[in-house]
Amino acid sequence: MHRSFKVGVFDSGIGGLNVLSACIRLAPHLNYYYIGDNKHAPYGNKSCEEIYYRVSCAVELFKLIGIDAVVLGCNTATAVCVQRLREKYAFPIIGTEPAVAPAARSYRRPLVICTPRTAESARLKELIARFPNVSFTVAPMPKLAGEIERSLTCGKLPTIADHLPRGDYDCVILGCTHYAFVRSQIERFYRLPVFDGAEGT
Ligand code: DGL
Repeated sequence: MHRSFKVGVFDSGIGGLNVLSACIRLAPHLNYYYIGDNKHAPYGNKSCEEIYYRVSCAVELFKLIGIDAVVLGCNTATAVCVQRLREKYAFPIIGTEPAVAPAARSYRRPLVICTPRTAESARLKELIARFPNVSFTVAPMPKLAGEIERSLTCGKLPTIADHLPRGDYDCVILGCTHYAFVRSQIERFYRLPVFDGAEGT
């Protein structure tokens, strides 16, 4: 692909940096622009209309700088508005989704942790419905992404044991890009394989 190909990566805040870093690793020759809307983060409890409005503002900014493709490095933004954005813009809009398919290939009782808006989304429900033999537990985390976002300024990562559910799971799917910052704590807490959607994106 041409060296001047411009890719805009968006998230509500710092979570999309994990997607950006996967993009840079896999396609280092592209030019990346990042917007993290941390003034309004977290998005996970906001209304769908507000999320759509905020993501649209960022996409408009990307359009102004002549972006060739946009990556939503945010599961919540993808779940809520990727379809609407694809109908509106001519350039490709790539979404981030929980790594349900890779987990379902080998596991039968995955736990999906994600924001409330992602948890209730039709996209996640449809994704999960593709694997009728797998028993997924979807656990909305109303505060975890916000606490991870704030760790940027207060320097202290959240105590994840305060957030995570206990149950009979055989793997964990990170359904929010912010959670990659606490991936090793989640691995230690559950002692289970952890899946992340960044590489897939
Ligand atoms: N990092 C985002 C996600 O993947 C959004 C988290 C939030 O702002 O609540 O869902």
